[in-house]
Amino acid sequence: MGEKITLSVIKADVGGFVGHSTVHSELLETAKQELAKSKELVDFFVGSVGDDINLIMTHKKGVDSEDIHQLAWNTFLACTETAKKLKLYGAGQDLLSDAFSGNVKGMGPGVAEMEFEERKSEPVIVFMADKTEPGAWNLPLYKIFADPFNTIGLVIDPKMHQGFKFEVQDLIHNKKVTFNCPEEIYDMLVFIGAPGHYCIKSVHTKDGEIAAVSSTQRLNLTAGRYVGKDDPVCIVRCQSGLPAVGEVLEPFANPHLVSGWMRGSHTGPLMPVAMKDASPSRFDGPPRVVALGFQLAEGKLVGPQDFFADVGFNKARDLANDVANYLRRLGPFEPHRLHLDEMEYTTMPDVMKKLKDRFQDI
Ligand code: 13P
Ligand code: 13P
Ligand code: MG
Ligand code: MG
Repeated sequence: MGEKITLSVIKADVGGFVGHSTVHSELLETAKQELAKSKELVDFFVGSVGDDINLIMTHKKGVDSEDIHQLAWNTFLACTETAKKLKLYGAGQDLLSDAFSGNVKGMGPGVAEMEFEERKSEPVIVFMADKTEPGAWNLPLYKIFADPFNTIGLVIDPKMHQGFKFEVQDLIHNKKVTFNCPEEIYDMLVFIGAPGHYCIKSVHTKDGEIAAVSSTQRLNLTAGRYVGKDDPVCIVRCQSGLPAVGEVLEPFANPHLVSGWMRGSHTGPLMPVAMKDASPSRFDGPPRVVALGFQLAEGKLVGPQDFFADVGFNKARDLANDVANYLRRLGPFEPHRLHLDEMEYTTMPDVMKKLKDRFQDI
């Protein structure tokens, strides 16, 4: 057995430039400087999508390492200082506490981490989204690892033909369950079709090898007040018994509808874009997804390959813009505006209070 490597992606929104649209370049510089000081990291890349900073890090400390989480936390604190100096919007938005307590989970930042033995060649894709929530990965992860109409490898690759195991988390009641697929896809779909409640946390091969992991924090549930959507990340390993890179990217050619967008309270299409084009503007959106590919070489992050920069995704962007036009015409009506239970904030209690004496029995 060789030495294992850990790939950690930890992300936070610590201030938007301008409003909630992007990350200011000074914040990205601050993040790079902070991570460069670390002796623990094998390598790192600082990415961004919309107003979220994504720290992509490799190291040998395993998942949930206090040292690595502390490093990410300190980096976000340093970025917050820069954000405050520039008076950026919502400076420190995602840092729910002043004191670090050993693990950033539940403190605001989103986390996706996996530990594995680096293969002879180790292609990985880091997906990063803005203006949406962790359940946004349910549909693409299902297609990648369970749908033969998306992933032909499930049919014709003897190394994938047996299928995969999915861990699904109930984010409201803090429970988890594992489904064997394809045997149990109908059972699983009952749950993952409700992405605001049930989220795919990870996917493993039937032999127990990690294939994908997502961030499943729901910041608004953690904070108990409006603090923006969770803007999740997801890591997928590719090739050699796992889905090919193109099979992993394929679901994003059809922009599916996700929750988020303006004020975290609307349904909109998830538009695949290059990192430089990830500046949600129209109605603070539409929601974006960026896919950064890396080859790992002894833990070094060779890359990134900014996959959605490819013209092959032009039609997906056109479709997302058409869907955005169509949905926007609904204005404040469902299903463009989210159901009352799912909205990040609402005036309903105040309006109700004001009108309570005017309601009459029918
Ligand atoms: P505020 O302008 O009051 O922050 O609300 C709008 C918004 O951008 C929600 O994050
Ligand atoms: P973020 O969650 O990306 O900060 O967006 C908040 C928002 O309310 C956008 O309208
Ligand atoms: Mg923001
Ligand atoms: Mg964001």
